[in-house]
Amino acid sequence: MSLQTLARYFTSGRVQKLPILDHYSNGSSSYASDFLARLSSDDGLDLSKLKASDLNRFDQFHVGGFASTSKVISKLRLDPTITDSVILDVGSGLGGPARQLASARPDVRVVGVDLFEPYVELSNVFNSSLLGDNLPQFVHADCQELSIHFPPSTFHGAYMIYVGFNVQSLETLVEQLGVVCKRKARVSVFDVVAGPETEKEFTFPLPFASDESSCHMLDEESYAKAWTSKGSFQCVEEVDETAFAISALDKAVKASRKEGADIGLGRVMGDTFEEKIVNLREQFKDGRMKCILNVYVKI
Ligand SMILES: C[S@@+](CC[C@H](N)C(=O)[O-])C[C@H]1O[C@@H](n2cnc3c(N)ncnc32)[C@H](O)[C@@H]1O
Repeated sequence: MSLQTLARYFTSGRVQKLPILDHYSNGSSSYASDFLARLSSDDGLDLSKLKASDLNRFDQFHVGGFASTSKVISKLRLDPTITDSVILDVGSGLGGPARQLASARPDVRVVGVDLFEPYVELSNVFNSSLLGDNLPQFVHADCQELSIHFPPSTFHGAYMIYVGFNVQSLETLVEQLGVVCKRKARVSVFDVVAGPETEKEFTFPLPFASDESSCHMLDEESYAKAWTSKGSFQCVEEVDETAFAISALDKAVKASRKEGADIGLGRVMGDTFEEKIVNLREQFKDGRMKCILNVYVKI
């Protein structure tokens, strides 16, 4: 971890946890080992022989799971004739989207970065037990400091799925992406922005934030400005995915209420799982939030 990030842990001699890390840890100080212990004891899985299907229940931490990741990947328009592309997953979570891309395109190298170290540790544990020649690489890093970890013009493309609202300075992230991405790199972004209904305050908890301290959600105009104002990226496509998100959340809420339901993501989001997805669905419905799929190109 860089000095800049470390400095944010300390205020007047007191150790301060970043609210975002607190949120994703669900209050556990041994998140990764607890998670593995439950996979082994509750699910009876052999941790040395995990299959991708064992992980698919919980490793896509966004609305719409696999289907959304497929849309994001398709927007990268990866050229089939270029066989050595390196693609960055910004905020890779438990690694589901990165594994999905790496398995769909064995010729593409995927690198995921995430700020929450237990997710990176778990992603690497999963890698060590999964079979496959093209497993993604996972790095513990703040996406606002990409240039500390990667040389300029490393990536042929990048994507970010349900992360922007957690990032303190989207402008800094975009600036950093501008450094580590090659010219003409496409960046597809599936995210949540503040919607047109500005009278009502946000309702927490949400799947990605326990309260305002871990939520840095921008409205659409500020989001667009953060991406394009410095001139290194141009927006080439904007899709409103709110209706799709509401329908996916309707299905998720229904499934979670079924007797004996196996709610994989409940394990990741903790006891308030249902309240979190209901709150998100309501805010998509009443216009406080919008789900977007945008594509930017490095100029
Ligand atoms: C809702 S999860 C989405 C994870 C993954 N993209 C997926 O869709 O499965 C948001 C992720 O963003 C990560 N994140 C938040 N702020 C970050 C930052 N500044 N740098 C890197 N990762 C960050 C969190 O740790 C978390 O894993």
